Amino acid sequence: LENGLGATPPMGWNSWNHFFCDIDETIIKETADALVSTGLAELGYKYVNIDDCWAEQERDSEGYLVPNKKTFPSGIKALADYIHSKGLKLGIYSDAGFQTCSNKMPGSLGYEQKDADTFASWDIDYLKYDNCNNNYTEPTKRYPPMSQALIKTGRPIFFSLCEWGEMHPAFWGAKLGNSWRTTTDISDTWDSMISRADQNEGYANFSGPGGWNDPDMLEVGNGGMSHKQYVVHFSLWAISKAPLLIGCDVRDLSNNTYKILGNKEVIDVNQDPLGIQAKKVKKDGDLEVWAGPLSKSRTVVLLLNRSVIRSTISAYWADLGVPADTSMEVRDLWKHKTYDKAFKNQLKFTMEGRSCRMFILKPLS
Ligand code: DGJ
Repeated sequence: LENGLGATPPMGWNSWNHFFCDIDETIIKETADALVSTGLAELGYKYVNIDDCWAEQERDSEGYLVPNKKTFPSGIKALADYIHSKGLKLGIYSDAGFQTCSNKMPGSLGYEQKDADTFASWDIDYLKYDNCNNNYTEPTKRYPPMSQALIKTGRPIFFSLCEWGEMHPAFWGAKLGNSWRTTTDISDTWDSMISRADQNEGYANFSGPGGWNDPDMLEVGNGGMSHKQYVVHFSLWAISKAPLLIGCDVRDLSNNTYKILGNKEVIDVNQDPLGIQAKKVKKDGDLEVWAGPLSKSRTVVLLLNRSVIRSTISAYWADLGVPADTSMEVRDLWKHKTYDKAFKNQLKFTMEGRSCRMFILKPLS
């Protein structure tokens, strides 16, 4: 969507994957504080996004959405002021239907301009727009009114289409939004995570600056996967130019979780100005190579062992679309080290089950 936003994938936090409907303004404010105090905000995690369940069940007598009086008593404008005072941005959530997925608040179908104007008057910076409880017309009919309404407010608001990939929003989303879901909801397991990365990969050609494929938000730090598996999760999201929306409780961040979410070298791959989504370039059973171009003639490579046993994976330059005789400087983005020797024609590494190695290759000379 040409609203000047999303030149690189959005980065921030969203309440759903950890808190679901159990949210209030204190959690949102403390999360903003934690993003700043941990240094994550400085690394680029700027959007603080409220998901479902922030509003009263009914609109007011004039048809306006009303923040939940118990959980958001100060209102959303006050919250936006607080978030902005921290140098961050505030995101909110609605639905292209009569009610949101939780059935706990109204949706925006038929109220698009009214709600967009409300969000703009609250200084909202990001809208996630869900797809539940609709009138069974196609999403290609129900998403454009909100896209246009947001533009009409005159406020730049990042528009995240949350149709769950069923009607292939990657095919039509770029005109309407800055990101679109390619999958149904992620859960905090290896199978859920890896299958979403696979599905999302199929749409790689549709993603780029201004509009990104969205395989759903991060589960890193929520406890359902091992450290190595979360490294795979974050690496895949980074190379896939996916939105990096943290889904854990950042007020209570372990060192290990911080090492993943705060890995600047991996974030830089996600935020590379070229904005080209990496693809699966080689597959030998459970042993895979994913790769894609980065700016400055560099290439990002992920060696991914999906099996449960220790295995060796090799990637030849031909797999990566690089001339066979190129000498490469190789940087390991998780070990934070550059190899002394130049690599010629292939990378070959052995790794544990369900783990990965991630590299940037830079041609020498
Ligand atoms: C479905 C979406 O896909 C989730 O990310 C979340 O927003 C829930 N709805 C909220 O009800």
